[in-house]
Amino acid sequence: MIEIKDLKVKVAWWEKEILKWVSLKFELWKNYCLLWKNWSGKSTLSSFLMWHPKYEYISGSVKLNWENLLELNPEERSVKWLFLSFQNVPEIKGIKLSEYLRTIYNINLKNNSPEVKELSPFIFKRFIKKQLIELDINEKFLDRELNVWFSGWEKRKIEILQMKLIWPKYIILDEIDSGLDLDAFRTIAEMLKALSNNENTLIIITHYFKILEFIDVDKVYVMKDGNIMKEGNSSLAKEISENGFNDL
Ligand SMILES: Nc1ncnc2c1ncn2[C@@H]1O[C@H](COP(=O)(O)OP(=O)(O)O)[C@@H](O)[C@H]1O
Ligand SMILES: [Mg+2]
Repeated sequence: MIEIKDLKVKVAWWEKEILKWVSLKFELWKNYCLLWKNWSGKSTLSSFLMWHPKYEYISGSVKLNWENLLELNPEERSVKWLFLSFQNVPEIKGIKLSEYLRTIYNINLKNNSPEVKELSPFIFKRFIKKQLIELDINEKFLDRELNVWFSGWEKRKIEILQMKLIWPKYIILDEIDSGLDLDAFRTIAEMLKALSNNENTLIIITHYFKILEFIDVDKVYVMKDGNIMKEGNSSLAKEISENGFNDL
């Protein structure tokens, strides 16, 4: 479980407070949706949880099971199964996709079972082929630089491929519904739905509601000005999608 209590976060090197009193609980096996009444703070929360240097902790706590998440470095956080699907997926020059995927796969493998041997490039390529076919990703992508010149759709598929390699426990989806055309969006949403199981948690950050037609959520939090304004079950999202936020 991830438990956030009275979290206050500001932009580093500046006084601007973005998250004011955020208290949320993410239990494993459940899916969540965070809706923001205005457009301020969604990416801050997800980036902060992953340890982005742009954001600074002021007060409050974030626990990952019995540990203090904020004391873990970014690698530990991801090895401990926190995965962020970026609003803007970064392009990283000089790193070959196949090597990147093999590296995260092996780190994860070693973390789970230290005695297991790492996969060599040759074996990994054979292993990854099946996954590429499942996600309809061209094998030629493996030799390209990580996300460089990939379309929005292709970048999302590569993220899903990463999820299928390391099976993160908590998957934060930061506005993955923006910038995809309807067919691409539907494909990605179906892939995420297939990935959702009783050993992981999807945390959907959005200001659209379409994704909720594909993925069932157990709990909806509505945020406003860095605070939790309201919480409820999936019917709350339906209500807001029909009547807007103003009736709350
Ligand atoms: N590094 C930064 N410097 C200045 N302002 C920032 C910085 N990061 C975020 N902000 C501001 O904080 C607010 C929240 O940003 P963000 O979390 O990215 O919003 P959202 O994802 O909800 O659109 C915005 O008003 C944004 O302009
Ligand atoms: Mg954002």
